[in-house]
Amino acid sequence: MALVPPYIASLAGYEAGRSARDVEREFGITGAIKLASNENPLGPSPLAIEAILRATGDLNRYSNGGLELREVLAREYDTKVENVIAGSGSEGIIANIVRTFLCDDDEVLTTEAAFIGFRLLAQSRGVAYRTTPYKDWRYDLPAIAAAITDKTKIIYLANPNNPTGTIFTRHEFDEFYRHVPERVLIILDEAYFEYAAHNPRYPDSMHYRYDNVITLRTFSKIYGLAGARIGCGFAHEELIRNLLKVKLPFEPSALAQAAGIGALADKEFVYRSLEENARGMRLLADSFTEMGLTVVPSEANFMMLAFPDAASATRILEGLLRQGVIVRPLKSFGLPQCIRVSVGTQTENERCVDAMRQANPAV
Ligand SMILES: Cc1ncc(COP(=O)(O)O)c(C=O)c1O
Repeated sequence: MALVPPYIASLAGYEAGRSARDVEREFGITGAIKLASNENPLGPSPLAIEAILRATGDLNRYSNGGLELREVLAREYDTKVENVIAGSGSEGIIANIVRTFLCDDDEVLTTEAAFIGFRLLAQSRGVAYRTTPYKDWRYDLPAIAAAITDKTKIIYLANPNNPTGTIFTRHEFDEFYRHVPERVLIILDEAYFEYAAHNPRYPDSMHYRYDNVITLRTFSKIYGLAGARIGCGFAHEELIRNLLKVKLPFEPSALAQAAGIGALADKEFVYRSLEENARGMRLLADSFTEMGLTVVPSEANFMMLAFPDAASATRILEGLLRQGVIVRPLKSFGLPQCIRVSVGTQTENERCVDAMRQANPAV
């Protein structure tokens, strides 16, 4: 259709993880579990729910565009409100970054099989999307630095990375940063920051601020608020000032903002989630390794399994699905030989291990 630009017509669109209900219907089963979207299996933060309920009385009013949450975040991170933006999830902020900074001839640069949400947003802007291969399932930062051209406008780095779960270290980032011209914007997507923060080698980018770096965080993962759509970003005030011009004026919604403020106060929920995740990660990774599967060591709330070929990955995926265990195929990321398994509750993890034993009868 002539109305649709070619770079939109050729986009495959975002394929969300399948819901438990869909799978139950398709396979005629009950009690399916979803370990496919890196959500918090413990549910939403209870303080966030209380805050949402309190905020409902003002729903007749327009939201203030996230100002209160920005103020709370500025206090929490000892920065100025001018350095903080809130949006409809970190993807909402990425959408605004794409709209604010990219011109037609610009290029974006990242790793192969990067977080698909970023790829789709960049490609929907019609700019050139360039990647370098992974090295041992990690970003090859020297290769990315070497691939920078005069046209490179944005470099996207997720740390920990989705779908591999791997991190790059502070030293590796510092070395990389020395090769990045100031005219290039680096997005540091730290959606899984809380899961990796205990690792002394993990670089918390809030501790090293550069004028051309924007840090993204989200309430969708450890705070259990994926459905509320709330995320935040930290950057130089000039970048934030321009992003705020482009952002929809009433984004994030009043309920999403209230949820974020409530969740930030819920330290107990975060600790509990971290403990459960560490326990689940150990169970899943140890069990899969014992079964002879290749588990990529992860610093997040999910892990990637690499199979010899796409057919083996599909066989396992289908075997799990038939038993009502939904994990994430990574074909749409460009890794058809891999699958991603999110850590669930103890019961879900045990079910996943049992189902994997059935689906992988070779061991
Ligand atoms: C690396 C990464 N960034 C961003 C997101 C999206 O987060 P949000 O729900 O805040 O848009 C995800 C979600 O899976 C992710 O894996």
